[in-house]
Amino acid sequence: MASATLLKSSPVLDKSEWVKGQSLTLRQPPVSTVRCHPTSSPALTVRAASSYADELIKTAKTVASKGRGILAMDESNATCGKRLASIGLENTEANRQAYRTLLVTVPGLGQYISGAILFEETLYQSTTDGKKMVDVLVEQNIVPGIKVDKGLVPLAGSNDESWCQGLDGLASRTAAYYQQGARFAKWRTVVSIPNGPSELAVTEAAWGLARYTAIAQDNGLVPIVEPEILLDGEHGIERTFEVAQKVWNKVFFYLAENNVLYEGILLKPSMVTPGAECKDRATPQQVADYTLKLLQRRIPPAVPGIMFLSGGQSEVEATQNLNAMNQSTNPWHVSFSYARALQNTCLKTWGGRPENVKAAQEALLIRAKSNSLAQLGKYTGEGESEEAKKGMFVKGYSY
Ligand code: 13P
Repeated sequence: MASATLLKSSPVLDKSEWVKGQSLTLRQPPVSTVRCHPTSSPALTVRAASSYADELIKTAKTVASKGRGILAMDESNATCGKRLASIGLENTEANRQAYRTLLVTVPGLGQYISGAILFEETLYQSTTDGKKMVDVLVEQNIVPGIKVDKGLVPLAGSNDESWCQGLDGLASRTAAYYQQGARFAKWRTVVSIPNGPSELAVTEAAWGLARYTAIAQDNGLVPIVEPEILLDGEHGIERTFEVAQKVWNKVFFYLAENNVLYEGILLKPSMVTPGAECKDRATPQQVADYTLKLLQRRIPPAVPGIMFLSGGQSEVEATQNLNAMNQSTNPWHVSFSYARALQNTCLKTWGGRPENVKAAQEALLIRAKSNSLAQLGKYTGEGESEEAKKGMFVKGYSY
């Protein structure tokens, strides 16, 4: 490396100029690329690590810590409205605030929950007692995270498939979320098996995830990479396995192309299961076998954590499947990032009534503890309620 030319990350704009209208002091990565001129071969451009690299690795390890997983509570206002409607409540900001206050203030939650994914409204919101939601989480030893995608829209030129929006302005949004206390991010895109999936839809999903990942890391947030393979369909488990291999193949191809730091990401895959309408059901052992085979073939051990989504499985099913995957030692922390499979009984128990808050909080703590045991491979399934065994699959579910 006789001569090395240092290139600035942006030759035209200072990074803070991208954060229009916000009084943020942003940390400047010292250098983002290093150009080396070895004597006999052509110039080789090597990207230097993000200035956040150490912090990203630390955050990812904290979220992927033993016996803990993620509480996904990042339903968009529209989706949260559907959850509230199911218990007869109006979709008002006050009702969303009351419900999310209940969730983040569960005493002792941080023993089982390492991170909570929030919707933007909650990241900037206070509890009903006037404390910042983010501060309450940090006091509970829970890392605040933020959903950063802007949802799904139809993918022109495809077989009725969709693509995920949100890359425009993402750098400034993630920088602002970091200032607000978020330390990890989530981007959920979907792949539909009954509608293909077409090559176009898989490529679009993988490329979008990879661009988001690079941008989130550049701004200090550990990206959760979530290509959800929807449960919809009559296909068997083999077909899901085949599609999942294809999807993760492309995702990692583009993650590498975008120079992401694998030690500073988390994955949120769907478990490999039969389609929701398939007659042949799979046992937790079969789900674990297929899912672990997929992960072993596609996921480098440098990735610290695999945090599964529940995707419409019942609370008990999601816990049993996770437990089955933790019967042997895995190269990654294999855990949960559930929304429905953590919140379902809790929401119903609450029913919007202040007198039920304590019982609802206990219901959430039971689910969190069960999944914590499943992360350790020690879940027995004893004493589960009938409610917790009910499936929550909804066709074409969106966030
Ligand atoms: P579910 O566990 O309900 O499938 O939630 C998925 C998700 O992406 C929430 O962040």
